[in-house]
Amino acid sequence: MQDEEQVGRILDAVVGAVPNTPVTLKFRTGWNLANKNAPTIARIAESAGIRAVAIHGRTRCQQYTGEAEYDTIALVKTLIRIPVIANGDITTPEKAKHVLDVTGADGIMIGRAAQGRPWLFREIEHYLKTGERLPPAQVTEIHEILKAHLIDLYAFYGPETGFKIARKHISWYTKGLVGSAAVRKEMNVLPSIEQQMQAVNEFFIRQAEENEYLKYDKEEALAA
Ligand SMILES: Cc1cc2nc3c(=O)[nH]c(=O)nc-3n(C[C@H](O)[C@H](O)[C@H](O)COP(=O)(O)O)c2cc1C
Repeated sequence: MQDEEQVGRILDAVVGAVPNTPVTLKFRTGWNLANKNAPTIARIAESAGIRAVAIHGRTRCQQYTGEAEYDTIALVKTLIRIPVIANGDITTPEKAKHVLDVTGADGIMIGRAAQGRPWLFREIEHYLKTGERLPPAQVTEIHEILKAHLIDLYAFYGPETGFKIARKHISWYTKGLVGSAAVRKEMNVLPSIEQQMQAVNEFFIRQAEENEYLKYDKEEALAA
């Protein structure tokens, strides 16, 4: 983002190389707080034939610190005609609505909040349509979703790698749940996918015995 001319050259080259494929661009609000040039980059993108932009409401130098801001995204939305997708710190249905309202964006993009919580999208969709929250996800459904996710990870990456990659997902799905710290610890020493799956099954069966809905523990959430 520090070299706007180079951005233009890159986008021209990419768009020109794939004439039949829509190219989209994701970027941040700028390089640093003194150089929030997302509006200029957005105009360059539109002129280059980019078909939609997604903007994370932080600068490059902020990395992941502080809160994402949405004013710059709102400004970009007024400057270009291609769709604008707002991103950064959208974690709940209410926040999703807020970001859509204050930016006027055509869509939202969600990253970290969906880790271990893929049902967030249906919660947001329902809230945007009705203004009401869906009941919290039930333990049995989450167990099913996680099992299917693990099977996909083992199949896609193969058992050796899949089993290691699965650890972080199990950690995200169980984050903050009662007893999750112990299950995370256990995950790091279990030697096989069979034992990993079995430990996950036992954990969720215990959760289901205690409560139909997921029950979060504040201390576990902080420790996770
Ligand atoms: C582990 C991780 C990997 C990421 N990888 C990419 C990536 O490959 N491309 C990208 O444009 N953004 C990537 N991002 C940034 C996210 O897409 C997103 O812009 C950022 O996390 C802010 O949104 P969020 O608050 O909803 O997570 C990544 C973020 C994380 C945490």
